Amino acid sequence: MTPVYSRIVATGSYLPRKILTNADLEARIDTSDSWIRERTGIVQRHISAPDETVSMMSEQAARNALAMAGLAPEDLDLIVMGTTTPDQIFPNSATMLQERLGIARIGAFTLEAACSGFIYALNVADKFIRTGDARRVLVVGAEMMSQLVDWSDRTTCVLFGDGAGAVILEAAAEPGIIGSLIHADGRYRDLLEFPGGVGRDFRNLENVYLQMRGSEVFKVAVATLGQSVEECLARFGHDKSELDWLIPHQANVRIIQATARRLGMPMDQVVVTVDHHGNTSTASIPLALDAAVRDGRIQRGQLLLLEAFGGGFTWGSALVRF
Ligand code: UT7
Repeated sequence: MTPVYSRIVATGSYLPRKILTNADLEARIDTSDSWIRERTGIVQRHISAPDETVSMMSEQAARNALAMAGLAPEDLDLIVMGTTTPDQIFPNSATMLQERLGIARIGAFTLEAACSGFIYALNVADKFIRTGDARRVLVVGAEMMSQLVDWSDRTTCVLFGDGAGAVILEAAAEPGIIGSLIHADGRYRDLLEFPGGVGRDFRNLENVYLQMRGSEVFKVAVATLGQSVEECLARFGHDKSELDWLIPHQANVRIIQATARRLGMPMDQVVVTVDHHGNTSTASIPLALDAAVRDGRIQRGQLLLLEAFGGGFTWGSALVRF
């Protein structure tokens, strides 16, 4: 039997209209534009409106990707959504997205891997296509991190933003997704978490917020991502010199620069959106990918390396022939 691969046929994204600048934050908390820029590279972030939800933002990103592909929602046969901030505990937000797209019957599920969620979702969707169980999959990463942070805590609130990104994966005779690797290490839970949920303080979440031991996370992220990208290249038989673009998770420009250095890639081969989006967790890679596809930087046939690291810890990389 001829092997089946998956390839990205289209990308899409959505960012909420409201922009929160570093100057806006300076007016609210004890921080400064220069601290935020120097330590993180962030200049502004988008914040969802009070009536917006992850499934609403996902619908916009999905329709954007469908339009690029020239496809209708009826052409999809699976929805895989990564999110840490679902509309509700259940039904899962991918079913809400499915309903918004006006389609029924096809499988639709969410998975949660914090900032690595998009790499996890891509990994899973790729396997559905490779096994022949699906031929066209909508893969979404969407987050409303603004709802998880304590807006009086300067160590976390300046970092995050909201948004949604999507790709459409289709069966193809050639890869596409050359390969992707996912990893996790639950021993690091205390360094980055939202310590509330059904198993913990569920009825009393009012004062529960995202918590991060930033500089410790930073050190593990830099070391782990360096190993992760090298592992991905070695596993799938490519050399770093072949890469056209690095599309990293957008948490901190200093982490991104460290990974680029490890790969010997100049920053003009790295897609950076953290300056304008902040850290949108699961949404950050598809948002960055869509930005660089739409402005013409990423061209068909180029070799892309995607990588992410986040709470759990979780991490992963994907090597993609676009
Ligand atoms: O996406 C998932 C993975 N997440 C990440 O990868 C994030 C990883 N961590 C980071 O990006 C960085 O550690 C941060 C940006 C969160 C912090 O940068 P840092 O260089 O590690 O700073 P720090 O936490 O060591 O804090 C240095 C100082 C502290 O003051 P003292 O104790 O030295 O007096 C903080 O209180 O900076 C202070 N500080 C701030 N000052 C102004 C922390 N946040 C702020 C702020 N404005 N917003």
